[in-house]
Amino acid sequence: MNTDKSTRFIATSWKDYELIDSGDGSKLEKFGKYVLNRPEPGAVWPKSLSYDKWDNADASFEPTGKKHGYWLNKADIKEKWHLQYNSPQLDHLKLVFQLETTRFKHVGVFPEQAANWEYIAEKIQPGEKLLNLFAYTGGASLAAKSAKADVVHVDAIRQVIDWTRVNMELSGLEGIRWVVEDALKFLKREVKRGNKYNAVVLDPPTWGLGPKNEKWKLDHHLEEIVELVAKVILPGGFVVMNTYSGIPPTSLETLWRRVLPTGQMTSGELCLQGKDGHLLSTGSLIRIEL
Ligand SMILES: C[S@@+](CC[C@H](N)C(=O)[O-])C[C@H]1O[C@@H](n2cnc3c(N)ncnc32)[C@H](O)[C@@H]1O
Repeated sequence: MNTDKSTRFIATSWKDYELIDSGDGSKLEKFGKYVLNRPEPGAVWPKSLSYDKWDNADASFEPTGKKHGYWLNKADIKEKWHLQYNSPQLDHLKLVFQLETTRFKHVGVFPEQAANWEYIAEKIQPGEKLLNLFAYTGGASLAAKSAKADVVHVDAIRQVIDWTRVNMELSGLEGIRWVVEDALKFLKREVKRGNKYNAVVLDPPTWGLGPKNEKWKLDHHLEEIVELVAKVILPGGFVVMNTYSGIPPTSLETLWRRVLPTGQMTSGELCLQGKDGHLLSTGSLIRIEL
């Protein structure tokens, strides 16, 4: 009998964030002072809390299409607000994120990523180089910077980088190198220049656009980006790859095994632990140590 158990990576140390409830295709979450109700296709079980608890959310996201929508703002959340993450294990890992309700359903942080921030901040050493691709508002970049690494943060959208700069300053950090560029293009140039990194973190979306309208499509470019990352990673280094795009962890292992055959791989699902006891999977994750 096969007794393999899939690994669950769970962020257990949040004080400011909470998955209050989930079910019927939605999740109810506390982000600091606000409670938000957002769609969650992975929540395929019934809700635990009564409907009036859900109705009391400060804001609820109403989708109007696949990606966009609007917020029904009961508490009239027009302001930006702050969310704090303090690691119980690592004194230096104290991050602050500025949040806002965006028309893409997101608020500026993926709380499940805290499991990766802990791993990165513990593993990277002062002065080592970390490359963060598709870096969004920079949780992984801030975690590495808090450990005094040299961080290169790549994202296609200037406003997202400006947002990350605010997070860096709120977190009392400085000195991240910002690159507004297509991730694949930047990586190809790094390979040509012979630049190497002790760690690469990547969270490639299903599709995206570079600043010059370069088309990123996960199913077209995944193999290529994996091969390029393998060329810039130093012996003794590590890779963290996350995807919200439905690629199973076993497929990620098979893909990476081709280019980093001697790497120690741990793969599984990145999950949020709900207050109601449900474990909500948010995507696949692989960590490779060389
Ligand atoms: C799913 S988010 C990453 C979330 C991040 N891992 C976190 O925990 O905060 C994807 C990011 O990729 C960026 N992006 C999309 N297409 C890109 C491209 N071609 N080159 C670089 N960044 C891109 C988007 O701007 C967005 O910030």
